[in-house]
Formats: sequence, C-alpha cells, structure tokens
Amino acid sequence: MTATWLKVLDGLALSPGDVSTAIAEGMAQAKVLRIVGLRPPGDPLRFWWTAGEVMGAHAQVLESSDGKVVPAGAGWMDVRFEPDRLDTYRHANVGQPLHTDGAYFDDKQDIGLFFLERQADSGGESLFVDADTIAKRLAKVDPIFWSG
Ligand SMILES: [Fe+2]
Repeated sequence: MTATWLKVLDGLALSPGDVSTAIAEGMAQAKVLRIVGLRPPGDPLRFWWTAGEVMGAHAQVLESSDGKVVPAGAGWMDVRFEPDRLDTYRHANVGQPLHTDGAYFDDKQDIGLFFLERQADSGGESLFVDADTIAKRLAKVDPIFWSG
C-alpha cells in the first residue's frame, strides 16, 4: 500500500483512550497525521507522550533553545516568539528555513510530534516536505545524493 501524504483526524470524534490506536492506524496510511480539536484530559505533554509511544520509544532528549541536546525531562521543545531571543529561529518572529528536526541527535527519530497549544493570530504555519520525494529528485540530479 502506498502511503498518502496527509491524513486529518477529527479529534472531537476520538475518545482519549482511542488516540493511540488512531495514531497507529493513521500513520500506517499517511506520512503526516494531523489530529484536530482533541483536548486531552490533564497534562497535554504526558498525554501526547504516552499516545505517541504506539509508534516507538521516545528519544528522551530535546534540543535546547541554544542548540544543545538535553534530557527531555518533563519539558516541551517550545517554538514561540520571545522578543529577547531573536538570535534563534525558534523564538524570532520570522519563518524558519527548511530543516530536519533532530538532525544532531545520536538516535535518529522516526517521527516527530507537534502539539499546537495556541494558534498564532497570523503566520505560524508548519511546512512539511516529503524526504523520499526530495531524495528521488536529488538522485535524478546526481546519483551521489542517493545511497538507499
Ligand atoms: Fe523544527
């Protein structure tokens, strides 16, 4: 089965207990799964951390806002505007260039989980790019870019 690019689930139609199953089923069908409108009970980090474990073990690390790999602890890797941190893309009010999350981690991640706590009044879009498509296009440019 060829995976579709994006699948959107109505989180209002999911019970919190069904989320892990929905994630597993959704990720088997799509490369990007978006769950809209789900308001988990309790701590959202704990909820999504647990729900995401259906896809594998958490890396247990985050990238600090100064670019260091740190233990995840109980924290989020925040992406939000902080006017005194304009030296970082994560906290400046400009678009980040295309990048790969977790590229500097020893354990390469299979999935990334984004939890949107509050939507920006404007902007704030996340653009996802299919790495397989990029790799195939690069392979046509020069096979040196393709090793698998
Ligand atoms: Fe990122």
